[in-house]
Amino acid sequence: MDAKKNAAERAVEYVQHGMTIGLGTGTTAYWAVLKLGQKIREGLHVNAVATSVGTEKLAKENNIPIAPFSEIDSIDLAIDGADEVDRQKNLIKGGGGALTREKIIAYNSRKFIVVVDESKLVEQLGKFPLPVEVLPFGAELTLKRILSMGVEATIRQAENSNYITDNGNLIVDCRFGSITDPSSLDAALKTIPGIVETGIFLNTRVSTVVVGFKTGDVNEL
Ligand code: A5P
Repeated sequence: MDAKKNAAERAVEYVQHGMTIGLGTGTTAYWAVLKLGQKIREGLHVNAVATSVGTEKLAKENNIPIAPFSEIDSIDLAIDGADEVDRQKNLIKGGGGALTREKIIAYNSRKFIVVVDESKLVEQLGKFPLPVEVLPFGAELTLKRILSMGVEATIRQAENSNYITDNGNLIVDCRFGSITDPSSLDAALKTIPGIVETGIFLNTRVSTVVVGFKTGDVNEL
């Protein structure tokens, strides 16, 4: 657990007075929210936007001011976890179901720092099932279209019913096994009506990956 905490806390060192911060979702981003809360208690002034209802709640519990999007000019820095990071720094995200909000915030931030433990580093994306957010309307048809790409895919379940995202949508988990061209796959999936967003985050949007190791070391890629 310390590997995640160490990575997240290192990323928070990039936060400066007056910034607007994008807060990620998941067990690694959790530590960044806590650390930011501590810095605010020590006198730091920042604004934040959250990538999920859960993170917004956690932020408020830690006295981090959440600004409405109408009141911010831009996002200076987003800090978020990932499910897989390949050698080129492409990511799979969405294990926690927050991928669409995470992508909107990451892609609109001047700097996007990814925080992971070493277990997330892979040669090639795809072992972790790729989460894809899908509109409930016609979801069975959308799923058939995804299946026709020759991939095993299932609608995510939670407590015996469909998992519902903060946006009221479904998640389809797609087992590609190995993703050789993340950019093309992302584009191909986006041609299917009903797909809201995919969990592929291209490296062009990633500023830094902070990796925490079991040994206690932290490396920045
Ligand atoms: C949430 O939807 C995800 O994208 C998370 O950022 C990702 O699953 C990493 O989560 P952990 O830090 O909990 O592994």
